[in-house]
Amino acid sequence: MVGTKVIIPGGGIAGPVLAMLLKAKGYDPVIYERADGPTDMGLSLGLQPNGLRVLGLIPGLLDEIDRCPVDEMISYSILPGEERELMRNKFPRERFDHGIEGVKRPVLLRALIEGAQARGVPVHFGHQLVDFEQHEESVIVKFANGKTDEGSFVIGCDGLHSNTRICLFGEEEASFTGLTQTGGISPIPEIYKSQGLHPAFNIYADGVHMIGIAANHTQVGWAITKREPEAKETWRGMDEARQEEFKEGPFSKLPFGGGELIRTAERIIKYGLYDRPELQSWHKNRVVLIGDAAHPTSPHLGQGANQALEDIYHLVRLLVKHNPTASAPSTATLESVFTELEQLRIPRTSELVKKARKMGDIRVVSGVDACKQRTELVRTMFTPEVARGMMEDFLKHPFEPGKSEI
Ligand SMILES: Cc1cc2nc3c(=O)[nH]c(=O)nc-3n(C[C@H](O)[C@H](O)[C@H](O)COP(=O)(O)OP(=O)(O)OC[C@H]3O[C@@H](n4cnc5c(N)ncnc54)[C@H](O)[C@@H]3O)c2cc1C
Ligand SMILES: *[C@@H]1O[C@H](CO)[C@@H](O)[C@H](O)[C@H]1NC(C)=O
Repeated sequence: MVGTKVIIPGGGIAGPVLAMLLKAKGYDPVIYERADGPTDMGLSLGLQPNGLRVLGLIPGLLDEIDRCPVDEMISYSILPGEERELMRNKFPRERFDHGIEGVKRPVLLRALIEGAQARGVPVHFGHQLVDFEQHEESVIVKFANGKTDEGSFVIGCDGLHSNTRICLFGEEEASFTGLTQTGGISPIPEIYKSQGLHPAFNIYADGVHMIGIAANHTQVGWAITKREPEAKETWRGMDEARQEEFKEGPFSKLPFGGGELIRTAERIIKYGLYDRPELQSWHKNRVVLIGDAAHPTSPHLGQGANQALEDIYHLVRLLVKHNPTASAPSTATLESVFTELEQLRIPRTSELVKKARKMGDIRVVSGVDACKQRTELVRTMFTPEVARGMMEDFLKHPFEPGKSEI
């Protein structure tokens, strides 16, 4: 018997995870990815307990991903005549099923794509969705290479520059946040290595903020955020000459391991940070958006991938609830699923997109007075009560440990 075919444009982080869960629920998902293969572009991502809990719903998957638990979150301030540690937070892992875990984006991507293929999901590379036609009981999708396919419904996982989104709601520029990141992957700096520590850290300096998170057990992914004219969002490397210049530039002298990371980077990349204003709806008829296609965010709360995973959990849960047999759903059934998804997810993701942008603005300030104010603000923002609140949130979303409804 032929199952219900679900077309997923976008084989990034969201696409393969969604596909694996749909497959487990009796659907026949198919992934179409624009790129010619899994890309090596990108740095590291922080998987948080909310996202990890969703990955944990796919038997065996977490064991296939080379992750590194973060031991401590450390913040430093660097101003003229002042180089000091501001705070240090241990993650109370006892209370959780997961802590915060760093992973290289290319490593995660490859594990997810291979995981999906191993679980019977076809992944077609070199297929860029350019258009679709909605019918009474199906959707016909069209690709730039001239091929077409027909499925019961479509879930757009095609990221920041989603064509699915453009086809649904029209063209609209992504909004530049005013910030760029220059980053790389480097060996763990000596100050941490000597203590056997796998850290996540923030360095607050004049005009810049540096963030780092373990990429695996021997490496750290890092990025320097600055206020700059628009840089195209691209995860490609800088040319050699500019990489060398950056490695010898002023940031190469940052203390607390910051400069060491810059000097020892394998490859340095630079990209602009973008988000988009919130959408009122994520769907039309038989086509819906999730992940960055629906709510791209600047990275300052580390929630891009984790919120995509929350979307996936709720979408799959609602499909199971409204269509328990995974038979070909009517447009009315899909409307109920997608509307319920939006009611739950749009408020939460919109708030996080705004908070992430605000966090970027707070973190990157220039001049000693502004930096001192920032230090005070950072201190009040990360009090033990605030940290507890964040952890309560991790515990509740998208489901409490052990209480998945799918
Ligand atoms: C190359 C790359 C590198 C990244 N590196 C980092 C990083 O180092 N750190 C970080 O925090 N975040 C990074 N991100 C962003 C991060 O992966 C996402 O914010 C997050 O995981 C949400 O996942 P997503 O699946 O919604 O979007 P994404 O992970 O962006 O995946 C979207 C996928 O859709 C594909 N696609 C786009 N248009 C089409 C189309 N028309 N048809 C078919 N496929 C299409 C893209 O090639 C991509 O594979 C990167 C994203 C990309 C694309
Ligand atoms: C971390 O990644 C690097 C580069 O991909 C690899 O050489 C190294 O073996 C990895 N370290 C561990 C502990 O997995």
